[in-house]
Amino acid sequence: MSLLEAAREVRENAYAPYSRFKVGAAVRGRSGTIYKGVNVENVAYPEGTCAEAGAIAAMIAAGETELIEVAVIADSPAPVPPCGGCRQKLAEFGRSDVPVTLATTDGARLDTTIGELLPGRFDVSHMDRC
Ligand code: THU
Repeated sequence: MSLLEAAREVRENAYAPYSRFKVGAAVRGRSGTIYKGVNVENVAYPEGTCAEAGAIAAMIAAGETELIEVAVIADSPAPVPPCGGCRQKLAEFGRSDVPVTLATTDGARLDTTIGELLPGRFDVSHMDRC
């Protein structure tokens, strides 16, 4: 199964009763295993979590700490861009050249990388004087 197919499939399980905007995400760990996540909203809106965060949490819970590919899909007019927080979350576990596929349910697709999504990323080197 391709990563995008995995994201498309899991998106059906998104819990998005408030926005009605279902998002599916899948990441491939260094081992090759695919981890999936969906957005999980909450009546207390800020407590909701993004699909990318769910996929990353599944990877970490399984004992992997490096992702080598990402796919995100939603029913949006253009390929869904990860929010700022999710860009930083992806950058925590993936190199700048990691491929990211952003897609819509009707077939539009944008291929990018973690580095393109988050240029000038804050990383551990910025804390070298601590
Ligand atoms: N959302 C994601 O899951 N990932 C993104 O990258 C963008 C936004 C979710 C959060 C919220 O449940 C809904 O989309 C509307 O913002």
